[in-house]
Amino acid sequence: MTKTYLDAATEIALEAGKILREEFSHPPSISYKGDVDLVTQADKRSEQAIVDRLKKYFPDHAVAAEEGLGHETDSEFRWHVDPLDGTTNFAHGYPCFCVSLGLAQCDSLLAGVIYNPIYDELFAAARGEGATLNGKKLRVSANATLATSLLCTGFPVHNRQSSPNLQYYGEFTMRSHGVRRDGSAALDLAFVAAGRFDGFWEFGLNRWDTAAGVLIIEEAGGKVTNFAGEPYRLGGPVILATNGLIHEEMRSVAWEISKRDTDPRLRR
Ligand code: IPD
Ligand code: CA
Ligand code: CA
Repeated sequence: MTKTYLDAATEIALEAGKILREEFSHPPSISYKGDVDLVTQADKRSEQAIVDRLKKYFPDHAVAAEEGLGHETDSEFRWHVDPLDGTTNFAHGYPCFCVSLGLAQCDSLLAGVIYNPIYDELFAAARGEGATLNGKKLRVSANATLATSLLCTGFPVHNRQSSPNLQYYGEFTMRSHGVRRDGSAALDLAFVAAGRFDGFWEFGLNRWDTAAGVLIIEEAGGKVTNFAGEPYRLGGPVILATNGLIHEEMRSVAWEISKRDTDPRLRR
């Protein structure tokens, strides 16, 4: 097998994106994984196609996929697969969703691809080789102040009572050009890498949501940590991803808010 990890991830994400485009052209077939967490036929078809292809190309690698069709091995190489990030958007006909594939070797991210099949935008990166959007070099924004920044965040679908993030949402809205909430964490991260957003934060994301996006941002010159400023760990309770220039300003605002919260897990 001569394929590089990035070539393989690109080919597979484009293929999965084709499935999502096709599924998006007719009414979704929806079921629930819990009270409010949706899953569609598109999530499952996309995941099956991705996992089958990864197993064929890299039979020894482990594959951790959101809908449970993955493949466990004792390899130090592990693919983190979100076959459809933005399922709620997809199910409502809101065209903001993507496929996200990230490969890690132990704790180090090696390759990542995020594909938006509606805009036909492919964000990609390999460790040490920079980040690209449809083959053109990507760079984070040059915006140096929070006051002139456009930010983004997200809220977990299952939280219907209250969310700790509402405080952060309010505070950052008042201090910036605005905070978008688009419903696809992987695309949010890709947009930070592309300089469309200057910063992003969210609580409770899974490894498959962030693996590709974190690498793409780092390779585009951005920074990713928790609210204490420590390097972000895949699956960690909080992520703060920025263009690097506004990182400390955003981090200190978030840290101050987190001190008002009684749950210390929401900081790092
Ligand atoms: C969700 C999206 C959303 C984020 C949620 C995720 P899914 O992923 O990324 O933006 O706020 O926390 O679960 O369920 O659509 O793959
Ligand atoms: Ca997701
Ligand atoms: Ca998903």
